[in-house]
Amino acid sequence: MATPSLDHWWQPFTNVRAFRDNPRLIARGEGCFVYTPDGREILDITAGLWCANLGHGRREIAEAVQRQLLELDFAPPFQFGAPVTFAFAAKLAEYAPPGLDRIFFTKSGSESVETALKIAYAWQRARGQGTRTRFIARERGYHGVNVGGTSLQGIANNRKGFPVLDNVDFLPDLLDIPANAFSRGLPQNGADKLVALEKIIALRGAENICAVIVEPIVGAGGMVPPPVGYLERLRELCTQHDILLIFDEVVTGFGRTGAAFAATRLGVTPDLMTTAKAINGGAVPMGGVFVRRDIQEAIFAAAPKGGPELFHGNTYAGAPVATAAGLAAFEIYEREGLLTRAAGPIGRYWEDALHSLRDVPQLIDIRNFGLLGAVTLAPDARYPGAAGVPVHNRCWENGLLCRAVGDNLVMSPPLVISEHEIDLFIERLRKSILEVRPG
Ligand SMILES: Cc1ncc(COP(=O)(O)O)c(C=O)c1O
Repeated sequence: MATPSLDHWWQPFTNVRAFRDNPRLIARGEGCFVYTPDGREILDITAGLWCANLGHGRREIAEAVQRQLLELDFAPPFQFGAPVTFAFAAKLAEYAPPGLDRIFFTKSGSESVETALKIAYAWQRARGQGTRTRFIARERGYHGVNVGGTSLQGIANNRKGFPVLDNVDFLPDLLDIPANAFSRGLPQNGADKLVALEKIIALRGAENICAVIVEPIVGAGGMVPPPVGYLERLRELCTQHDILLIFDEVVTGFGRTGAAFAATRLGVTPDLMTTAKAINGGAVPMGGVFVRRDIQEAIFAAAPKGGPELFHGNTYAGAPVATAAGLAAFEIYEREGLLTRAAGPIGRYWEDALHSLRDVPQLIDIRNFGLLGAVTLAPDARYPGAAGVPVHNRCWENGLLCRAVGDNLVMSPPLVISEHEIDLFIERLRKSILEVRPG
């Protein structure tokens, strides 16, 4: 295809003016690599945006989508449903954290978050606790871009200047480099930061709080694993005060941490769980909210007969093509053992490889968990608060697609990555960081 005009697509979360001057176009993908229109090979150490967990270009998914399109391109999900959608929900339920086997489909992570908030509200009302309308999120958290998710955002630029709900309090940021620099896996220090939750509960009154929402491992905010004991204590406090706990697993779901979900890997069960992205290999937009069965039952019991139990949902929720892709993706996840691969030798290889960068002088932290990774660069006066950006740009020149978040670079390779590809990643990242060293 001839290069199209770059003037008309207003890209999300993009420095569009810089992009037009120096476009980074991706035309093809296969396995852990993507290719520019002129055929340059780029190692994708992000699985797209945490989407292509199975690697790019999975023929089985493409064929399943094609078959589904020819058989049934669309079925209305309001008052109707395609068998393939129910079949995929049943497949997901096999992997749900204990008790969360009711699944509400969406078509993005942002919609999953809005849906979870509404289900949380609906449950509180259904059980006669309608005063519980407040939410608690966390600094550095990312929960999508709709109004609910924007209000829960702990990343300043994503909320400043937009209308937000005023019923949200924030827990403190977990990234504490002085206390935890270069930790492997979960860091030791920081579970005591939950004193802040106790203070918020005391200040607001538990009877006014609907839910706490956190990413079990921070993703878009810079990949920050929780300190040892933090999630367990969070669960304890929520249970004690009868507050719902929502895990946003849009990034951490589907094998990223070495289990189907971080909740499973870390042994802490939320009441609601939001997902998207790799749910179907990332090829067709899709998301889903996993709901505790008795929460659904309580909402059903309280709803007047004769109408929907929840007045909420999207036209493309659980679309046949998206769920057909999901069933095909799960055949691969299961056959190739990809949901647990990150907990095995490749996860240890990844950890050792990342920490081999410790001698790079600009790095002040390295973090890893499962097949997630991050490095933090020392602040660079030339790029205030954004030391990752020039490295990210140089990575592209050096054949590496990674992601910059402020002073951090975050990584989440396809779960099929080989040791050789990890070595290649380290070589290209090291080179890129050293090349932008302050003069
Ligand atoms: C934790 C988390 N929640 C929600 C979202 C929003 O997902 P989407 O971009 O599909 O709307 C993201 C996206 O990266 C995310 O990382």
